[in-house]
Amino acid sequence: MKYFLDSAKIEEIKEAYNTFGIDGVTTNPRHIQLSGKPFLTVVKELADWVKEEGLEGIDRFPISVEINPHLDNAEDMITEAKKIAAISENFAIKIPSTAAGIEASRKLEKEGIRTNVTLVFSTAQAILPAKNNALFMSPFIGWKEANGEDCKKYIEDIVTIYNKFGYKTEIICAAIRNPKQIVECAVAGAHIVTTALDVYKDAMKHPFTNQGLDTFIAAWDNTITE
Ligand code: E4P
Repeated sequence: MKYFLDSAKIEEIKEAYNTFGIDGVTTNPRHIQLSGKPFLTVVKELADWVKEEGLEGIDRFPISVEINPHLDNAEDMITEAKKIAAISENFAIKIPSTAAGIEASRKLEKEGIRTNVTLVFSTAQAILPAKNNALFMSPFIGWKEANGEDCKKYIEDIVTIYNKFGYKTEIICAAIRNPKQIVECAVAGAHIVTTALDVYKDAMKHPFTNQGLDTFIAAWDNTITE
């Protein structure tokens, strides 16, 4: 399973790449806002960084960038997506999971512009992006679970459907909030999870690991080592 970082902060992206070897990045308008920088500054910074790292290419290090959320018809979505896609070959353009969004994603993919159909909250919504060859489809886990919904079966059903029909679209389990959700997505067979750097750090923590280290340090310090 691939790990993407859900962030538009370049320093965090560099840290996650250098420490955990993340496989890609997802951003959204809220992440851009949290970066404190203008939209175009952020996307250009990301485009420059993949070049510096020698990571050019959608197959090497995909970065999802979302279109203006005000756009509500396919034609305008396509125009905006093309402008963003022209900045870097690493960009997968995030398009909302609406009827207009599906039309835009379908037409963009036919022209070779890769898309990530986002804001997916039901199994029914997850099928059309795959039928129309979106590169990615992003079911939001954290938002549903915060609403009291258990997402285990939700993800399992999507994976089952994709496998049954041989869909190539990769499932990005998005808005992951804790290590348990990462594990559930992995067990279900989702291709990718995307989350914050702190969640990946939390996934590496266990009190027994610290306790074990303390035990071994005490043993080491009480052993003649030469
Ligand atoms: C995924 O692609 C989204 O950017 C993200 O997971 C949305 O959720 P959040 O911003 O609430 O974490």
